[in-house]
Parts: sequence; C-alpha cells; structure tokens
Amino acid sequence: MRKCLTYVLCLSVVTLSYSEVQATKNDSYFVIPEGLKIGVGTSSYQVEGGWNASDKGENVWDRLVHSKPWMILDETDGDLAADSYNKYKEDVHWVKRMKFDHYRISLSWARILPTGLSNSVSREGLRYYHNLIDELLANNIEPLVTIYHWDHPQVLEDMGGWTNHMMVKFYLEYANVVFREFGDKVKVFTTLNELQLFCLSGYGIGEIAPGKPLNITGAYLCGHNALKAHAEAYHLYNREYRSKQNGRVGIVSHCASYLPKTPNDTLAAEIAFEFSCGWISHPIYIGDYPKLMKDKVAQFSKDAGFTESQLPVFSPAEIARIKGTSDYFGMNHYTSFLVEQVPDSESNLLLRDSGIKQSYDPSWEITGMDWLNIVPHGFGYMLRKIKAKYNNPPVYVTENGSADNQIMDDHQRIKYHFLYLRELLSAVYRDNCNVQKYTAWSLVDCFEWSTGYAAGFGLLALNMSSPARERIPKLSASWFETVMGTRKLQPPFNSTLQK
Ligand code: NOJ
Repeated sequence: MRKCLTYVLCLSVVTLSYSEVQATKNDSYFVIPEGLKIGVGTSSYQVEGGWNASDKGENVWDRLVHSKPWMILDETDGDLAADSYNKYKEDVHWVKRMKFDHYRISLSWARILPTGLSNSVSREGLRYYHNLIDELLANNIEPLVTIYHWDHPQVLEDMGGWTNHMMVKFYLEYANVVFREFGDKVKVFTTLNELQLFCLSGYGIGEIAPGKPLNITGAYLCGHNALKAHAEAYHLYNREYRSKQNGRVGIVSHCASYLPKTPNDTLAAEIAFEFSCGWISHPIYIGDYPKLMKDKVAQFSKDAGFTESQLPVFSPAEIARIKGTSDYFGMNHYTSFLVEQVPDSESNLLLRDSGIKQSYDPSWEITGMDWLNIVPHGFGYMLRKIKAKYNNPPVYVTENGSADNQIMDDHQRIKYHFLYLRELLSAVYRDNCNVQKYTAWSLVDCFEWSTGYAAGFGLLALNMSSPARERIPKLSASWFETVMGTRKLQPPFNSTLQK
C-alpha cells in the first residue's frame, strides 16, 4: 500500500472517458443546493472494536467471528476494527476536516443493553455514545443515528433472533431506551439498516451473522418480524417522544437498481424492484407486500410443494399499522444489475421466487468488490422511480460508495462519487426529486462483514499493522474536502488537495 501521508501533496489524475468529460462541461447542475446535506457514515460493529469493553454483552458478530473464523474471507474480526471506541474524537476530526454536514453512525445494542433487554442499561455504553454525539454537535456536525445495523445481542439470537416474533418486543424495549437517552440531541433516527440484507444473508443464505441457512422461509420470516418491529418503534416515537423531541424516524432500504436487459422487458425490472426495494417500501408507503411479490411467492411455494405461501401474511390491522411509518425514504444504493425473465429459478436467493435472472453489462467498470460496478445512470433511475412510485418522499441516501483493495490514490472512488453525485444533482434540479441527504460510505476502511478487511470503502485508510490504527487520508478525502469547501461538485481532474 502506498501511503499518502502527505495529505497536502497528492495530486489527482483523471480517468474519465471523452463522453464523460463532455457531459461534465455541459453540466450546469454542480452547485449543492441549500436543502441537500452531504455526509459520511460508518456502523458500530464495523468500526468500534471494544468488543468486550466494560460490561458490553456478546453480539451475533462477536459469536460468529470467534466461533467460525473461516466464514470471514481473511479470517479477521471486529474485535479492534478501527478502534473507534477509543478513537471517536479522531473520527469526528476527520468528518469535520472534510467539512461534511452529517455523520451517520449506528449503536451497538449489546453495548447499551448487555443482557439484550432493558432490565440493565449499561452506563458505560450510554456514556460512549453520549460522548460521540456531543463531540459531533460541538463540531456542528449532525448525527444520523441508526438504532440497529446487524449486531443484535447473542442472547436474543439464542431465542431465535429475528425469526422469533418476540424480537418485535425486544427491539421496542431497546428503541425506547435509545429515544429516551439520545432523542434530545439526535433528530434523525433510522430503525433498521438494510432489512433485506440481514434477513437474506443472515437467515436465508447464512453467510453473515447469525449465519443461519434457513432458506427463503427464514429470510421472509425475519423480514416480517423486522417490519413489525420498525413500525412499533415508529409508533412509540409518535406516542412518547415526537412532540418533545421533534425528530424524524425512518428505515433504510437496500435499493440496487435493476435495469431491463432488453429494452422491452420492463416487467423484469419491475419484478426485481418489488422483490428487493419494494419488499420493504411497499408495506410502508402503499400498504402490504407488493402484489407481484405475493403472487410470485405463492406460485413458487405451490410448485415447490408447500401448502402455503412462504411469504407470511399481514392481517388488515398489521397492514394499517405499518403503512405510513417513515418520515423519510432511507436508501442505500451502490450499483445496478441487468435483469431478464427466465423459466428456471435463479441462484440468487432474493430473486429465486421471482423468475428473474440478473447479470452485468460487460461495459460497466468494476470496482474492488465483484458485485459493485460503476453505473451512475442506474442511480438516477432509482431516484426517479422512488419519486414516481411513492409520491416524491424526502429521500435520504444513507449509503453510496465504491470499494478498493488498499489503494491510496483512489481515483476510481473520486470518479464514482463525482458521477453518482452528478446524477443525483440532475435528479434534484431537472427532475425535482426530493433528495435531502447524501451519505458517502464510508469514513474509514472497516470490517466489511464476510469480506473482512480485504476490501475497503473508506475515504480514510487504516493502518492495520499498528495497534494504534492510524487513519490515513486517501485522495478521495481531499476531493470531498474541496467539494464540501466550495459546496460545488468538482470534476475529478481539478481536484488538488487543500490544506
Ligand atoms: C451496506 C451495509 O449497510 C454496510 O454495512 C456495508 O459496509 C456496505 N453495504 C458495503 O457492502
């Protein structure tokens, strides 16, 4: 790894194609409008470390990495990670230095409630998050707080985790402590991060914690309980806290774009959307699971010999309870896929019941993760789709970013953010999409779940060979500093580092 320790001296070189450069010259939408805030994010297990600090309880990730290390590509763990538990001030310093408006963090459930339940609340755990939030506020950075980002207490998993309907109640107890403790300071809460991912990968395929291969039945059951938990937390906030705290509560959905492989096959794109983003958004914005999804899963279940659909059914009361439970549309978006309808089931678990096959356009540029291609027009497509489908809700892009394999001169990441932000600004100016927040992922290279540290999304690299875990700015850190300093999107080739 070439270390770019001389933050002020690294120069950026362009890698845009001729047409991209032309488009850049013609683009008049480069000013970041008043109503659009730009920030950066991380999550608790991925950066904190301090896995057994003070009275913290064990969570599902602690259990997975310690008991089945081979499930992580490089057999690493989050025991120390970026040591943000001790180095949070340094993280805030960098967020400030890049002049970001907000910092998205998540809370570790087992750090706050060591037993998983609210009978014992950890003073040390609360103190850590109060310190971090206070540090952000003192630096005029807005904290965006995700209550759950995949790291629930192991003791709750021992009772079935998200496949146990009691998890709705357990989650509510936890959310109540969070609102009560932090709601005076935090004005944006996210209940759950990427339900689709933790349900499909955690309980469907079993490749991330808790590592339970329960097939699509487990994934749908997890999703069903998690949606109810989200809705109950939203209602709790309305009932007990909103009038005093005046914040916003929402959920974050995983919304990759699915583009038709052949221009006429818009149905394929629609089916794929409903099985992914729509799985969560339809119950919240329209009511119940999408009809396309219900019909396809019912048919698939019948063909597979089940007596009932593997997609659980909401009662009318539950449908009404979930509908409308979001003050903003939280969206993580990284990339796009091509889709087509096929007769045979697909190996991708999410799309297996849908009769959809996904692939990549060979012309798309690949990044440090094999699933992550650079497809900026897919981002604009998704923003316009959300506007059209859900009546132009306020959109918070809670994650967007590119992966590298320990590259300090990360021209590709700069290019990625430039092209995606340019697409976003067009969607705002030209198409009137109501995008209010954009969050680059991530502040620092961190524990990338089953990939370990083999790929990083950070604007800052981490010195993994030193226990001090020094942060080292990549070139993209200085590009963002320039963008935020001018509040204007800067073409990559003009990006020289600013002191
Ligand atoms: C989404 C997840 O929320 C985040 O934790 C992860 O690092 C990114 N995807 C990149 O894979």
